[in-house]
Parts: sequence; structure tokens; C-alpha cells
Amino acid sequence: MEIERIQLQMHGDDRGMLISLEKDLNVPFDIRRVYYLFSTKCDVHRGMHAHRNLNQLAVTVRGSVTFLLDDGSGPCKVVLDDPSQGLLLRRMVWREMYDFTQDCVLMVLADQFYDPADYITDYDVFLREVHSGAYQAEVPAC
Ligand code: TYD
Repeated sequence: MEIERIQLQMHGDDRGMLISLEKDLNVPFDIRRVYYLFSTKCDVHRGMHAHRNLNQLAVTVRGSVTFLLDDGSGPCKVVLDDPSQGLLLRRMVWREMYDFTQDCVLMVLADQFYDPADYITDYDVFLREVHSGAYQAEVPAC
């Protein structure tokens, strides 16, 4: 599958660095929710689901994590370890996250409010739905 990374402009000076996330500038959707994962145990696998109607942008503000992504065409591994890189997670992409470093802070911007009913947690159901042809990518990259 195509991995969509968004390069985030760094504003740096002798005081340090700053990155701004802004709709249409570097976030290609309406931001309705932000959450972040931290203090994740290193042997933990998180995620293991897809969303029917949710687009997200993931940024490791600190540390590193590995994503396994699958849009139905097979798994693809992505290491996210740079606060100036966003990883676009479109709807109907199966995701798993693992190998969190102890210091990892993974921030996620989302275009929908939290909705447990939007989750697909069974990989076989995901494969059936994604291959049904009912889903088209809607969010253009910035
Ligand atoms: P969960 O979806 O299991 O995390 P992940 O799939 O990334 O491993 O979420 C963990 C808990 O946090 C669960 O009780 C639901 C809650 N939660 C919210 O209340 N709001 C949110 O936006 C998210 C993502 C989770």
C-alpha cells in the first residue's frame, strides 16, 4: 500500500523548535479530536483494528513506534520516529502499533469524535469489507 507521510515544517531558532499542525496547511481534514499515547509498555501491541469512517494523522512527538498498516493488499511496516513527520492513516486501513520506546509520545489527530461503533476489530471482517469495493479514499494529501 502507499504510505503517506506528511513533512511538517519546523520553525526553529536558537531557543529551540516548534511545529504547528493546521487544517489544510499540513492536516488534510477537519480536526475534531486529538489524543495521545504515552507510558506504553514495550511488549504491548495496540490498535489491531480499522475504522470505517475515520481519518487520522499520527505524529511521534517523542520517541519511536512501529506501525503495521494494511489496506487489504498486505501488511506494510512503518517506523515513526521523527516529530517532523506525520503519518496519514486513512479510513479502512488496518493498523497495529508495537515496539514503542519507553519515552514514546504518539499523538493522533482525528476527523471524527470518538465512536466505538466505527471500529472493525476482526481482521477477517475488515478484509471482507475492504474488498467489497464500498470504500474510496476521500481525503486528498496536503
Ligand atoms: P483503544 O481504542 O483500545 O486504543 P488502541 O486501539 O489505540 O490501542 O482505546 C483505549 C481506551 O481509551 C478505551 O477505553 C477507549 C478510550 N478512548 C477514548 O475514550 N477516546 C478516544 O478518543 C480513544 C482513541 C480511546
